[in-house]
Amino acid sequence: MIEFNNINQEPPYLLFKKKYDEAIDAGQKAIEAISISSYNKEMQEVDSRYVNLKFVNNNEFIFFTNYNSPKSIAFISHNQISALIYWSSINVQIRMKARIQKTSDEYNQEYFKHRSTDKNALAISSNQSSPIPSFDQVIKKYNKIKKDRDLKICPQYWGGFSFSPFEIEFWEGNASRLNKRDFYKLNDNIWHHSILEP
Ligand SMILES: Cc1cc2nc3c(=O)[nH]c(=O)nc-3n(C[C@H](O)[C@H](O)[C@H](O)COP(=O)(O)O)c2cc1C
Repeated sequence: MIEFNNINQEPPYLLFKKKYDEAIDAGQKAIEAISISSYNKEMQEVDSRYVNLKFVNNNEFIFFTNYNSPKSIAFISHNQISALIYWSSINVQIRMKARIQKTSDEYNQEYFKHRSTDKNALAISSNQSSPIPSFDQVIKKYNKIKKDRDLKICPQYWGGFSFSPFEIEFWEGNASRLNKRDFYKLNDNIWHHSILEP
């Protein structure tokens, strides 16, 4: 589930919420899964991975991760990302271009306090995406952290990213192949709407 706070009243945000509610009603599984594509400018590499979208706070979409992970390094190197959702239960794709930044330390600490200690133990113990000799060692590190550490204190290397889109496209598949594409672009703080050919 995604938590919505202070819902933005601009058309693309209202349409996002409407499609989310429809997908929930249709029993969509893994509704918070969103693919984030990044560009690491120094390495000249693009990459994509799923994360779980946790919040939509006004115009900000928020997820959490390890700040030393390859994705975080890419976001810092180049702050433009693209994000992609497909809700199969309603046959809707949502595609965004956005700028991304870290959430504040206070925000991360507050969020961490309310997560389960099991999840926090993994966030603390995992040096995300670094090679490790065996899966046994992953478990050992995790169990040691569970015993030794205060699991309510968020480490500096873990926290949220918030992205605010400047383009959002909703693609709605139709049995007739007359797929509907609603495209929104932010220009000078005003959202402009157009229909794209399928
Ligand atoms: C459905 C799904 C949700 C995921 N959610 C997260 C998440 O919220 N945060 C995260 O760090 N990794 C998440 N992952 C794992 C990432 O896809 C990825 O493997 C990991 O973050 C390392 O990515 P990186 O090497 O590009 O930094 C998720 C994977 C899947 C399949």
